[in-house]
Amino acid sequence: MAPEVVFKRLEPKDIDDVMIVERRSFPPEVQQSKRELLNTIGYPKSIGMLAYVDGKPVAYGVGAPLEVYPCPGIDKHYGQGYTFYLESIAVVPEERGKGIGSALFKKIIELAKEQGYKRLTGHAYRDGWQLARRFGARRLFKSEEFYLDGSDAIYYEIWLT
Ligand SMILES: CC(C)(COP(=O)(O)OP(=O)(O)OC[C@H]1O[C@@H](n2cnc3c(N)ncnc32)[C@H](O)[C@@H]1OP(=O)(O)O)[C@@H](O)C(=O)NCCC(=O)NCCS
Repeated sequence: MAPEVVFKRLEPKDIDDVMIVERRSFPPEVQQSKRELLNTIGYPKSIGMLAYVDGKPVAYGVGAPLEVYPCPGIDKHYGQGYTFYLESIAVVPEERGKGIGSALFKKIIELAKEQGYKRLTGHAYRDGWQLARRFGARRLFKSEEFYLDGSDAIYYEIWLT
């Protein structure tokens, strides 16, 4: 039988579990710092989720209102207050391809809707684009060499209404 995946809302006290997933999921130059991720979790109206298998952290996703990110020129909806920016989502390598990323994405969308967001955006890193597409993501533009490992990002939007 497949092990059960337990999801929980992310709180600041869970930051070390987030960092375990972060370090195992991204190349070193792309990883975010503990401070950056703690900052995001601390913003009003931020949303974060963690997933555990056998008590071990295997995935997380986190984001906040688009307006907390200093990038007004990037998005014509910036400033309206209804866009949730999914800053990061990751599943540790050995748990990929089992639907955990999709389940996490779905839960984040549900929470975003509950909190009154109308739209979700994000920069998709590599496999992230395939994942976002499953939820109806529309590609808005490509940012070349957006990530410090030289990868491009697709900036996408998903309307939640
Ligand atoms: C993107 C990611 C979160 C997807 O998580 P996951 O649990 O593997 O996702 P799912 O099993 O729900 O599958 C979703 C999509 O991921 C892709 N995928 C499936 N198995 C995969 C694997 N073993 N490795 C990578 N991607 C895979 C597929 O495109 C799949 O869509 P499909 O089934 O319609 O083809 C995960 O691959 C990951 O953490 N990658 C490294 C970090 C990263 O790139 N994060 C995205 C930042 S925007």
